[in-house]
Amino acid sequence: MPSRTHLPQWQTLVEHRNNLDSFSLLQSFTNNPDRAAQLSSQACDIFYDYSKQRLEDTSLDLLLALAEACELKPAIDRLFSTAKVNTSEQRPALHWLLRADKADTDDAQLQGYIDENNATQKHMQRIAEQIHNGQLRGYTGKPFTDVVNLGIGGSDLGPAMVYQALSSHHVQGIRCHYVANMCAHDLLDCVRDLDPHSTLFIVSSKSFTTLETLTNANSAKDWLLNTLKDEQAVADHFFAVSSVPELAMQWGVREEHVFPFADWVGGRYSLWSSIGFSLCVGIGFANFKQLLQGARKMDRHFVETEFANNLPVIMALIGIWNNNFWQWPQLAVVPYDNRLRRFPAFLQQLEMESNGKHATLQNTLADYATCPTIWGEAGSNSQHSFFQLFHQGNTVVPIDFIAVLNSGHGLKNHQDWLFTNCLAQSRALMIGQAQDGSLPAYQQMRGNNPSSTLVVPEINPEVLGSLIALYEHKVYVQSVIWDINPFDQWGVELGKKISTSLHKVLTGEETQSFDSSTEQLFALYRQQK
Ligand code: F6P
Repeated sequence: MPSRTHLPQWQTLVEHRNNLDSFSLLQSFTNNPDRAAQLSSQACDIFYDYSKQRLEDTSLDLLLALAEACELKPAIDRLFSTAKVNTSEQRPALHWLLRADKADTDDAQLQGYIDENNATQKHMQRIAEQIHNGQLRGYTGKPFTDVVNLGIGGSDLGPAMVYQALSSHHVQGIRCHYVANMCAHDLLDCVRDLDPHSTLFIVSSKSFTTLETLTNANSAKDWLLNTLKDEQAVADHFFAVSSVPELAMQWGVREEHVFPFADWVGGRYSLWSSIGFSLCVGIGFANFKQLLQGARKMDRHFVETEFANNLPVIMALIGIWNNNFWQWPQLAVVPYDNRLRRFPAFLQQLEMESNGKHATLQNTLADYATCPTIWGEAGSNSQHSFFQLFHQGNTVVPIDFIAVLNSGHGLKNHQDWLFTNCLAQSRALMIGQAQDGSLPAYQQMRGNNPSSTLVVPEINPEVLGSLIALYEHKVYVQSVIWDINPFDQWGVELGKKISTSLHKVLTGEETQSFDSSTEQLFALYRQQK
Protein backbone atom coordinates (compact mmCIF):
# COMPACT_ATOMS: atom_id res chain seq x y z
CA MET A 1 0.00 0.00 0.00
CA PRO A 2 1.43 3.44 -0.88
CA SER A 3 2.16 6.01 1.82
CA ARG A 4 -0.82 8.00 3.06
CA THR A 5 0.72 11.11 1.51
CA HIS A 6 0.22 9.57 -1.94
CA LEU A 7 -3.52 9.26 -1.52
CA PRO A 8 -5.34 11.73 -3.79
CA GLN A 9 -7.47 12.74 -0.78
CA TRP A 10 -4.30 13.67 1.11
CA GLN A 11 -3.02 15.70 -1.82
CA THR A 12 -6.35 17.51 -2.14
CA LEU A 13 -6.09 18.49 1.51
CA VAL A 14 -2.56 19.82 0.95
CA GLU A 15 -3.87 22.04 -1.86
CA HIS A 16 -6.92 23.07 0.15
CA ARG A 17 -4.74 24.08 3.09
CA ASN A 18 -2.46 26.08 0.74
CA ASN A 19 -5.51 28.07 -0.29
CA LEU A 20 -6.21 29.01 3.31
CA ASP A 21 -2.98 30.94 3.98
CA SER A 22 -4.92 34.15 4.53
CA PHE A 23 -7.82 32.50 6.38
CA SER A 24 -9.05 34.71 9.23
CA LEU A 25 -11.03 33.13 12.02
CA LEU A 26 -12.58 36.42 13.03
CA GLN A 27 -13.58 37.17 9.45
CA SER A 28 -15.10 33.72 9.06
CA PHE A 29 -17.39 34.39 12.05
CA THR A 30 -18.40 37.75 10.54
CA ASN A 31 -19.07 36.15 7.16
CA ASN A 32 -21.13 33.33 8.56
CA PRO A 33 -23.30 34.04 11.63
CA ASP A 34 -24.11 30.31 11.83
CA ARG A 35 -20.49 29.22 11.96
CA ALA A 36 -20.52 28.30 15.68
CA ALA A 37 -23.69 26.21 15.35
CA GLN A 38 -22.49 24.58 12.13
CA LEU A 39 -19.10 23.65 13.52
CA SER A 40 -20.27 22.15 16.80
CA SER A 41 -21.46 18.71 17.73
CA GLN A 42 -22.80 17.00 20.82
CA ALA A 43 -22.88 13.46 22.18
CA CYS A 44 -22.98 11.76 25.59
CA ASP A 45 -23.40 15.11 27.40
CA ILE A 46 -20.27 16.52 25.77
CA PHE A 47 -20.67 19.63 23.65
CA TYR A 48 -17.81 20.10 21.19
CA ASP A 49 -17.32 23.52 19.61
CA TYR A 50 -14.62 23.42 16.95
CA SER A 51 -15.66 26.62 15.19
CA LYS A 52 -12.48 28.38 16.34
CA GLN A 53 -10.36 26.01 14.27
CA ARG A 54 -8.84 27.33 11.08
CA LEU A 55 -11.09 25.42 8.75
CA GLU A 56 -14.04 25.79 6.43
CA ASP A 57 -17.05 23.50 5.95
CA THR A 58 -15.34 22.01 2.93
CA SER A 59 -12.21 21.25 4.99
CA LEU A 60 -14.23 18.82 7.05
CA ASP A 61 -15.70 17.19 3.95
CA LEU A 62 -12.20 16.66 2.58
CA LEU A 63 -11.01 15.25 5.89
CA LEU A 64 -13.98 12.89 5.94
CA ALA A 65 -13.05 11.77 2.44
CA LEU A 66 -9.53 11.05 3.69
CA ALA A 67 -11.01 8.96 6.51
CA GLU A 68 -13.01 6.95 3.97
CA ALA A 69 -9.92 6.46 1.83
CA CYS A 70 -8.06 5.16 4.88
CA GLU A 71 -10.89 2.65 5.39
CA LEU A 72 -11.87 3.99 8.79
CA LYS A 73 -15.21 2.19 8.94
CA PRO A 74 -13.78 -1.34 8.59
CA ALA A 75 -11.00 -0.35 10.99
CA ILE A 76 -13.60 0.58 13.65
CA ASP A 77 -15.39 -2.71 13.02
CA ARG A 78 -12.09 -4.51 13.54
CA LEU A 79 -11.51 -2.75 16.89
CA PHE A 80 -14.93 -3.93 18.09
CA SER A 81 -14.17 -7.55 17.23
CA THR A 82 -11.68 -10.26 18.04
CA ALA A 83 -9.43 -9.07 15.18
CA LYS A 84 -5.77 -8.77 16.21
CA VAL A 85 -5.55 -5.01 15.72
CA ASN A 86 -2.40 -5.01 17.85
CA THR A 87 -0.48 -6.56 15.00
CA SER A 88 3.03 -6.56 16.46
CA GLU A 89 1.85 -8.40 19.59
CA GLN A 90 -0.74 -10.43 17.74
CA ARG A 91 -3.72 -9.66 19.94
CA PRO A 92 -6.98 -7.73 19.85
CA ALA A 93 -7.53 -4.51 21.83
CA LEU A 94 -10.70 -5.11 23.79
CA HIS A 95 -10.68 -2.39 26.46
CA TRP A 96 -14.14 -1.35 25.18
CA LEU A 97 -15.42 -4.81 26.09
CA LEU A 98 -14.72 -4.18 29.78
CA ARG A 99 -17.58 -1.67 29.73
CA ALA A 100 -19.80 -3.43 27.20
CA ASP A 101 -23.16 -5.10 27.69
CA LYS A 102 -23.55 -8.62 26.39
CA ALA A 103 -26.15 -7.26 23.97
CA ASP A 104 -23.47 -5.09 22.31
CA THR A 105 -22.00 -8.10 20.50
CA ASP A 106 -23.23 -11.37 19.05
CA ASP A 107 -19.78 -12.91 19.00
CA ALA A 108 -19.77 -15.88 21.39
CA GLN A 109 -16.09 -15.46 22.25
CA LEU A 110 -16.58 -11.80 23.13
CA GLN A 111 -19.65 -12.66 25.19
CA GLY A 112 -17.52 -15.20 27.07
CA TYR A 113 -14.96 -12.47 27.81
CA ILE A 114 -17.77 -10.24 29.10
CA ASP A 115 -18.86 -13.03 31.46
CA GLU A 116 -15.30 -13.39 32.76
CA ASN A 117 -15.02 -9.64 33.25
CA ASN A 118 -18.35 -9.58 35.08
CA ALA A 119 -17.05 -12.25 37.46
CA THR A 120 -13.92 -10.18 38.15
CA GLN A 121 -16.07 -7.09 38.73
CA LYS A 122 -18.21 -9.01 41.24
CA HIS A 123 -15.03 -10.04 43.04
CA MET A 124 -13.82 -6.42 43.12
CA GLN A 125 -17.19 -5.26 44.37
CA ARG A 126 -17.28 -7.87 47.15
CA ILE A 127 -13.78 -7.06 48.39
CA ALA A 128 -14.36 -3.29 48.14
CA GLU A 129 -17.55 -3.63 50.18
CA GLN A 130 -15.77 -5.76 52.76
CA ILE A 131 -13.15 -3.04 53.09
CA HIS A 132 -15.87 -0.41 53.48
CA ASN A 133 -17.89 -2.29 56.09
CA GLY A 134 -14.83 -3.32 58.08
CA GLN A 135 -15.29 -7.04 57.44
CA LEU A 136 -11.86 -7.04 55.86
CA ARG A 137 -9.28 -5.53 58.21
CA GLY A 138 -5.57 -5.24 58.68
CA TYR A 139 -3.42 -7.83 60.40
CA THR A 140 -3.96 -6.33 63.85
CA GLY A 141 -7.72 -5.93 63.40
CA LYS A 142 -7.84 -2.24 62.47
CA PRO A 143 -10.17 -1.24 59.61
CA PHE A 144 -8.42 0.03 56.51
CA THR A 145 -8.39 3.81 56.15
CA ASP A 146 -5.74 4.27 53.45
CA VAL A 147 -5.27 2.54 50.13
CA VAL A 148 -1.97 2.96 48.31
CA ASN A 149 -1.91 1.99 44.64
CA LEU A 150 1.61 1.07 43.54
CA GLY A 151 1.80 1.16 39.74
CA ILE A 152 3.18 3.22 36.91
CA GLY A 153 2.08 4.33 33.43
CA GLY A 154 -1.36 2.96 32.70
CA SER A 155 -1.38 1.16 36.04
CA ASP A 156 -1.28 4.56 37.75
CA LEU A 157 -2.28 7.48 35.54
CA GLY A 158 -5.86 6.43 34.77
CA PRO A 159 -7.00 5.55 38.30
CA ALA A 160 -5.02 8.44 39.83
CA MET A 161 -6.59 10.94 37.42
CA VAL A 162 -10.11 9.56 37.92
CA TYR A 163 -9.78 9.49 41.72
CA GLN A 164 -8.73 13.14 41.72
CA ALA A 165 -11.37 14.16 39.19
CA LEU A 166 -14.13 12.52 41.24
CA SER A 167 -13.18 14.07 44.55
CA SER A 168 -16.82 14.82 45.23
CA HIS A 169 -17.56 11.08 45.04
CA HIS A 170 -14.90 9.85 47.47
CA VAL A 171 -16.02 7.22 49.97
CA GLN A 172 -15.88 8.70 53.45
CA GLY A 173 -13.29 7.23 55.77
CA ILE A 174 -11.07 5.95 52.94
CA ARG A 175 -8.26 7.84 51.26
CA CYS A 176 -6.58 6.58 48.10
CA HIS A 177 -2.98 7.43 47.29
CA TYR A 178 -1.04 6.77 44.10
CA VAL A 179 2.68 6.03 44.14
CA ALA A 180 4.41 5.53 40.81
CA ASN A 181 7.90 6.96 40.72
CA MET A 182 11.08 4.99 41.25
CA CYS A 183 12.23 8.00 43.25
CA ALA A 184 11.58 6.86 46.82
CA HIS A 185 10.39 10.33 47.79
CA ASP A 186 7.13 9.38 46.13
CA LEU A 187 6.60 6.39 48.41
CA LEU A 188 8.13 7.99 51.51
CA ASP A 189 6.10 11.19 51.16
CA CYS A 190 3.00 9.05 50.82
CA VAL A 191 3.50 6.74 53.80
CA ARG A 192 4.98 9.38 56.15
CA ASP A 193 1.65 10.05 57.83
CA LEU A 194 0.07 6.65 57.29
CA ASP A 195 -0.53 4.01 59.92
CA PRO A 196 0.74 0.58 58.77
CA HIS A 197 -2.03 -1.08 60.81
CA SER A 198 -4.72 0.48 58.61
CA THR A 199 -2.94 0.78 55.24
CA LEU A 200 -3.71 -1.46 52.32
CA PHE A 201 -1.42 -1.67 49.28
CA ILE A 202 -2.49 -2.61 45.77
CA VAL A 203 0.39 -3.69 43.55
CA SER A 204 -0.96 -2.81 40.11
CA SER A 205 1.08 -4.11 37.23
CA LYS A 206 -0.12 -5.80 34.08
CA SER A 207 3.19 -7.61 33.62
CA PHE A 208 4.10 -7.81 37.31
CA THR A 209 7.70 -7.32 36.23
CA THR A 210 7.87 -3.52 36.07
CA LEU A 211 10.97 -2.32 37.90
CA GLU A 212 9.45 0.80 39.47
CA THR A 213 6.37 -0.97 40.77
CA LEU A 214 8.18 -3.98 42.19
CA THR A 215 10.84 -1.77 43.79
CA ASN A 216 8.11 0.29 45.44
CA ALA A 217 6.20 -2.85 46.44
CA ASN A 218 9.29 -4.33 48.13
CA SER A 219 9.98 -1.09 50.00
CA ALA A 220 6.33 -0.81 51.01
CA LYS A 221 6.53 -4.36 52.35
CA ASP A 222 9.63 -3.39 54.39
CA TRP A 223 7.80 -0.31 55.72
CA LEU A 224 4.86 -2.44 56.78
CA LEU A 225 6.99 -5.13 58.41
CA ASN A 226 9.04 -2.55 60.21
CA THR A 227 5.97 -1.98 62.39
CA LEU A 228 3.96 -5.17 62.15
CA LYS A 229 7.02 -7.45 62.48
CA ASP A 230 5.35 -10.55 61.08
CA GLU A 231 5.64 -11.78 57.47
CA GLN A 232 2.05 -13.07 57.80
CA ALA A 233 0.87 -9.45 57.78
CA VAL A 234 1.88 -9.08 54.13
CA ALA A 235 -0.95 -11.32 52.93
CA ASP A 236 -3.50 -9.20 54.82
CA HIS A 237 -2.24 -5.83 53.62
CA PHE A 238 -1.23 -6.47 50.01
CA PHE A 239 -3.58 -6.87 47.07
CA ALA A 240 -2.55 -7.14 43.44
CA VAL A 241 -3.88 -6.51 39.95
CA SER A 242 -2.14 -8.25 37.08
CA SER A 243 -2.59 -10.20 33.90
CA VAL A 244 -0.07 -12.68 35.30
CA PRO A 245 -1.70 -13.54 38.68
CA GLU A 246 0.84 -16.32 39.36
CA LEU A 247 3.62 -13.75 39.66
CA ALA A 248 1.62 -11.73 42.17
CA MET A 249 1.00 -14.84 44.25
CA GLN A 250 4.68 -15.81 44.10
CA TRP A 251 5.47 -12.32 45.40
CA GLY A 252 3.27 -12.93 48.46
CA VAL A 253 -0.27 -11.86 47.61
CA ARG A 254 -3.06 -14.23 48.66
CA GLU A 255 -5.00 -15.71 45.71
CA GLU A 256 -8.29 -14.15 46.89
CA HIS A 257 -6.57 -10.74 46.83
CA VAL A 258 -5.37 -10.94 43.22
CA PHE A 259 -7.57 -9.40 40.53
CA PRO A 260 -6.71 -10.63 37.04
CA PHE A 261 -7.21 -8.99 33.70
CA ALA A 262 -6.60 -10.16 30.18
CA ASP A 263 -3.54 -9.39 28.07
CA TRP A 264 -5.79 -7.88 25.38
CA VAL A 265 -6.18 -4.82 27.62
CA GLY A 266 -3.38 -2.37 26.85
CA GLY A 267 -1.74 -0.63 29.83
CA ARG A 268 -2.96 2.86 28.91
CA TYR A 269 -6.48 1.51 28.31
CA SER A 270 -6.61 -0.48 31.53
CA LEU A 271 -8.41 1.74 34.01
CA TRP A 272 -11.67 0.01 33.04
CA SER A 273 -10.25 -3.36 34.09
CA SER A 274 -9.29 -4.49 37.58
CA ILE A 275 -6.60 -1.78 37.40
CA GLY A 276 -9.61 0.27 38.55
CA PHE A 277 -9.78 -1.67 41.83
CA SER A 278 -8.49 1.31 43.84
CA LEU A 279 -11.42 3.26 42.39
CA CYS A 280 -13.90 0.60 43.52
CA VAL A 281 -12.58 1.19 47.02
CA GLY A 282 -12.06 4.96 46.71
CA ILE A 283 -15.27 6.03 44.94
CA GLY A 284 -17.36 2.90 45.48
CA PHE A 285 -18.32 0.18 43.03
CA ALA A 286 -21.55 1.89 41.90
CA ASN A 287 -19.61 4.98 40.80
CA PHE A 288 -17.00 2.81 39.09
CA LYS A 289 -19.83 1.18 37.11
CA GLN A 290 -21.18 4.63 36.20
CA LEU A 291 -17.75 5.51 34.86
CA LEU A 292 -17.84 2.38 32.69
CA GLN A 293 -21.38 3.20 31.64
CA GLY A 294 -20.28 6.64 30.44
CA ALA A 295 -17.49 5.09 28.41
CA ARG A 296 -19.89 2.56 26.93
CA LYS A 297 -22.19 5.36 25.84
CA MET A 298 -19.29 6.90 23.93
CA ASP A 299 -18.43 3.47 22.45
CA ARG A 300 -21.96 3.13 21.11
CA HIS A 301 -21.91 6.67 19.75
CA PHE A 302 -18.56 5.96 18.05
CA VAL A 303 -19.78 2.73 16.47
CA GLU A 304 -23.26 3.87 15.50
CA THR A 305 -22.98 7.51 14.39
CA GLU A 306 -22.19 8.65 10.87
CA PHE A 307 -18.76 10.22 10.69
CA ALA A 308 -19.95 13.79 10.08
CA ASN A 309 -21.56 13.81 13.55
CA ASN A 310 -19.21 11.40 15.26
CA LEU A 311 -17.35 13.19 18.06
CA PRO A 312 -14.20 11.02 18.20
CA VAL A 313 -13.97 11.07 14.41
CA ILE A 314 -14.35 14.85 14.10
CA MET A 315 -11.92 15.47 16.92
CA ALA A 316 -9.39 13.11 15.37
CA LEU A 317 -9.71 14.70 11.94
CA ILE A 318 -9.21 18.18 13.36
CA GLY A 319 -6.04 16.90 15.03
CA ILE A 320 -4.88 15.49 11.68
CA TRP A 321 -5.73 18.78 9.95
CA ASN A 322 -3.68 20.81 12.44
CA ASN A 323 -0.78 18.38 12.66
CA ASN A 324 -0.38 17.20 9.08
CA PHE A 325 -1.71 20.06 6.99
CA TRP A 326 -1.06 23.17 9.07
CA GLN A 327 1.99 21.45 10.52
CA TRP A 328 1.43 22.46 14.11
CA PRO A 329 2.96 19.51 15.95
CA GLN A 330 1.51 20.20 19.40
CA LEU A 331 -1.78 19.99 21.25
CA ALA A 332 -2.33 21.69 24.59
CA VAL A 333 -5.19 20.43 26.73
CA VAL A 334 -6.41 22.93 29.30
CA PRO A 335 -9.23 21.83 31.59
CA TYR A 336 -10.95 24.64 33.49
CA ASP A 337 -11.67 22.52 36.54
CA ASN A 338 -9.00 21.89 39.12
CA ARG A 339 -10.18 18.32 39.60
CA LEU A 340 -9.12 17.56 36.01
CA ARG A 341 -5.57 18.79 36.51
CA ARG A 342 -4.11 15.31 35.92
CA PHE A 343 -6.12 14.84 32.74
CA PRO A 344 -3.35 16.24 30.48
CA ALA A 345 -0.83 13.85 32.08
CA PHE A 346 -3.20 10.95 31.49
CA LEU A 347 -3.62 12.01 27.86
CA GLN A 348 0.13 12.23 27.41
CA GLN A 349 0.43 8.49 27.88
CA LEU A 350 -2.79 7.69 26.06
CA GLU A 351 -1.87 9.69 22.98
CA MET A 352 1.91 9.69 22.86
CA GLU A 353 2.49 6.07 23.89
CA SER A 354 -0.18 5.04 21.40
CA ASN A 355 0.63 7.15 18.37
CA GLY A 356 4.15 8.43 19.00
CA LYS A 357 5.47 6.09 16.34
CA HIS A 358 7.08 6.16 12.93
CA ALA A 359 6.50 2.53 11.92
CA THR A 360 3.53 2.01 9.63
CA LEU A 361 1.45 -1.14 9.41
CA GLN A 362 3.15 -1.70 6.05
CA ASN A 363 6.50 -2.10 7.86
CA THR A 364 7.79 1.18 6.47
CA LEU A 365 8.73 4.45 8.13
CA ALA A 366 6.06 7.14 7.92
CA ASP A 367 7.05 10.12 5.77
CA TYR A 368 4.53 12.35 7.57
CA ALA A 369 4.03 13.59 11.12
CA THR A 370 2.27 11.28 13.56
CA CYS A 371 1.33 12.06 17.18
CA PRO A 372 1.78 15.70 18.20
CA THR A 373 3.31 16.59 21.55
CA ILE A 374 0.49 16.66 24.09
CA TRP A 375 0.78 18.83 27.13
CA GLY A 376 -1.30 21.03 29.36
CA GLU A 377 -2.29 22.11 32.81
CA ALA A 378 -5.44 23.28 34.52
CA GLY A 379 -6.82 26.73 33.78
CA SER A 380 -6.71 29.32 35.16
CA ASN A 381 -3.24 28.47 36.59
CA SER A 382 -1.78 27.95 33.15
CA GLN A 383 -2.88 31.45 32.08
CA HIS A 384 -0.21 32.67 34.47
CA SER A 385 2.51 30.41 33.12
CA PHE A 386 2.59 29.23 29.51
CA PHE A 387 -0.33 31.13 27.97
CA GLN A 388 2.02 34.02 27.19
CA LEU A 389 3.55 31.80 24.51
CA PHE A 390 0.14 31.04 23.05
CA HIS A 391 -0.55 34.75 22.66
CA GLN A 392 2.80 36.02 21.45
CA GLY A 393 5.16 33.10 20.88
CA ASN A 394 6.35 32.27 17.41
CA THR A 395 4.71 28.86 17.32
CA VAL A 396 1.04 28.12 16.95
CA VAL A 397 -0.25 25.67 19.56
CA PRO A 398 -3.76 24.29 18.98
CA ILE A 399 -5.68 23.97 22.24
CA ASP A 400 -8.48 21.81 23.61
CA PHE A 401 -10.23 23.85 26.29
CA ILE A 402 -12.43 21.83 28.63
CA ALA A 403 -15.11 23.78 30.49
CA VAL A 404 -17.58 22.60 33.11
CA LEU A 405 -21.01 24.21 33.51
CA ASN A 406 -21.79 23.18 37.06
CA SER A 407 -18.70 22.96 39.23
CA GLY A 408 -20.63 21.49 42.15
CA HIS A 409 -18.65 23.42 44.80
CA GLY A 410 -21.34 26.07 45.30
CA LEU A 411 -19.00 29.07 45.17
CA LYS A 412 -20.72 30.79 42.27
CA ASN A 413 -18.32 33.69 42.17
CA HIS A 414 -15.33 31.36 41.56
CA GLN A 415 -17.17 29.43 38.89
CA ASP A 416 -18.46 32.52 37.03
CA TRP A 417 -14.93 33.90 36.85
CA LEU A 418 -13.40 30.56 35.87
CA PHE A 419 -15.89 29.96 33.07
CA THR A 420 -15.52 33.48 31.69
CA ASN A 421 -11.74 33.14 31.84
CA CYS A 422 -11.93 30.02 29.71
CA LEU A 423 -14.08 31.76 27.11
CA ALA A 424 -11.93 34.89 27.30
CA GLN A 425 -8.80 32.94 26.43
CA SER A 426 -10.17 31.25 23.32
CA ARG A 427 -11.61 34.58 22.18
CA ALA A 428 -8.45 36.57 22.94
CA LEU A 429 -6.35 33.98 21.13
CA MET A 430 -8.64 34.33 18.14
CA ILE A 431 -9.00 38.10 17.92
CA GLY A 432 -5.47 39.09 18.91
CA GLN A 433 -4.55 42.76 19.13
CA ALA A 434 -3.13 45.55 17.03
CA GLN A 435 -2.21 43.41 14.03
CA ASP A 436 -2.18 46.69 12.08
CA GLY A 437 0.83 47.87 14.06
CA SER A 438 -1.11 50.56 15.92
CA LEU A 439 0.57 49.57 19.16
CA PRO A 440 4.22 48.82 19.96
CA ALA A 441 5.39 45.32 18.97
CA TYR A 442 5.29 44.10 22.55
CA GLN A 443 1.57 44.80 22.64
CA GLN A 444 0.77 43.18 19.31
CA MET A 445 -0.82 39.75 19.23
CA ARG A 446 -1.28 37.94 15.97
CA GLY A 447 -4.58 36.26 16.99
CA ASN A 448 -6.11 33.67 14.65
CA ASN A 449 -5.01 30.89 17.04
CA PRO A 450 -6.93 27.61 16.68
CA SER A 451 -8.77 26.07 19.60
CA SER A 452 -11.73 23.83 20.36
CA THR A 453 -13.88 23.97 23.46
CA LEU A 454 -15.42 20.91 25.05
CA VAL A 455 -18.20 21.69 27.50
CA VAL A 456 -19.55 19.16 29.99
CA PRO A 457 -22.49 19.76 32.35
CA GLU A 458 -20.57 18.59 35.41
CA ILE A 459 -17.84 16.20 36.43
CA ASN A 460 -19.57 13.01 37.45
CA PRO A 461 -18.49 9.39 36.85
CA GLU A 462 -20.61 8.96 33.72
CA VAL A 463 -19.50 12.18 32.02
CA LEU A 464 -15.88 11.49 32.92
CA GLY A 465 -16.14 7.97 31.45
CA SER A 466 -17.50 9.42 28.20
CA LEU A 467 -14.78 12.07 28.09
CA ILE A 468 -11.99 9.53 28.51
CA ALA A 469 -13.49 7.18 25.91
CA LEU A 470 -13.83 10.14 23.52
CA TYR A 471 -10.08 10.68 23.62
CA GLU A 472 -9.39 6.92 23.44
CA HIS A 473 -11.35 6.64 20.21
CA LYS A 474 -9.87 9.84 18.83
CA VAL A 475 -6.47 8.21 19.27
CA TYR A 476 -7.65 5.10 17.43
CA VAL A 477 -9.05 7.10 14.50
CA GLN A 478 -5.79 9.01 14.18
CA SER A 479 -3.83 5.76 14.24
CA VAL A 480 -5.92 4.54 11.31
CA ILE A 481 -5.25 7.72 9.33
CA TRP A 482 -1.53 7.48 10.15
CA ASP A 483 -1.55 3.74 9.40
CA ILE A 484 0.12 2.79 12.68
CA ASN A 485 -0.50 0.31 15.48
CA PRO A 486 -1.57 2.33 18.56
CA PHE A 487 -1.52 -0.66 20.90
CA ASP A 488 2.16 -1.53 21.27
CA GLN A 489 5.02 0.50 22.78
CA TRP A 490 8.32 -0.91 21.53
CA GLY A 491 10.03 2.45 21.91
CA VAL A 492 10.11 2.28 25.70
CA GLU A 493 11.99 -1.02 25.66
CA LEU A 494 15.40 0.33 24.63
CA GLY A 495 15.63 2.65 27.64
CA LYS A 496 14.73 -0.25 29.94
CA LYS A 497 17.44 -2.44 28.37
CA ILE A 498 20.15 0.19 28.68
CA SER A 499 19.25 1.03 32.28
CA THR A 500 19.62 -2.67 33.13
CA SER A 501 23.12 -2.79 31.70
CA LEU A 502 24.14 0.52 33.33
CA HIS A 503 22.86 -0.73 36.67
CA LYS A 504 24.95 -3.90 36.32
CA VAL A 505 28.03 -1.77 35.74
CA LEU A 506 27.17 0.46 38.72
CA THR A 507 26.83 -2.52 41.04
CA GLY A 508 30.06 -4.08 39.72
CA GLU A 509 28.29 -7.09 38.21
CA GLU A 510 29.67 -6.27 34.77
CA THR A 511 32.29 -4.07 33.21
CA GLN A 512 31.55 -2.15 30.06
CA SER A 513 32.50 1.23 28.70
CA PHE A 514 30.11 3.76 27.28
CA ASP A 515 30.32 7.07 25.44
CA SER A 516 32.34 9.76 27.23
CA SER A 517 29.28 11.72 28.33
CA THR A 518 27.72 8.69 30.03
CA GLU A 519 31.11 7.81 31.58
CA GLN A 520 31.58 11.35 32.87
CA LEU A 521 28.13 11.45 34.47
CA PHE A 522 28.67 8.01 35.94
CA ALA A 523 31.98 9.17 37.44
CA LEU A 524 30.22 12.10 39.12
CA TYR A 525 27.73 9.72 40.69
CA ARG A 526 30.45 7.35 41.91
CA GLN A 527 32.51 10.19 43.42
CA GLN A 528 29.51 11.46 45.32
CA LYS A 529 28.83 7.96 46.72
O1 F6P B 1 5.82 2.35 29.75
C1 F6P B 1 5.61 1.06 29.30
C2 F6P B 1 4.50 0.38 30.01
O2 F6P B 1 4.48 -0.94 29.57
C3 F6P B 1 3.13 1.02 29.84
O3 F6P B 1 2.53 0.72 28.62
C4 F6P B 1 2.41 0.47 31.01
O4 F6P B 1 1.22 1.16 31.26
C5 F6P B 1 3.46 0.64 32.08
O5 F6P B 1 4.68 0.36 31.42
C6 F6P B 1 3.29 -0.22 33.29
O6 F6P B 1 3.33 -1.57 32.97
P1 F6P B 1 2.80 -2.68 33.96
O7 F6P B 1 1.36 -2.44 34.20
O8 F6P B 1 3.08 -3.99 33.28
O9 F6P B 1 3.58 -2.55 35.25
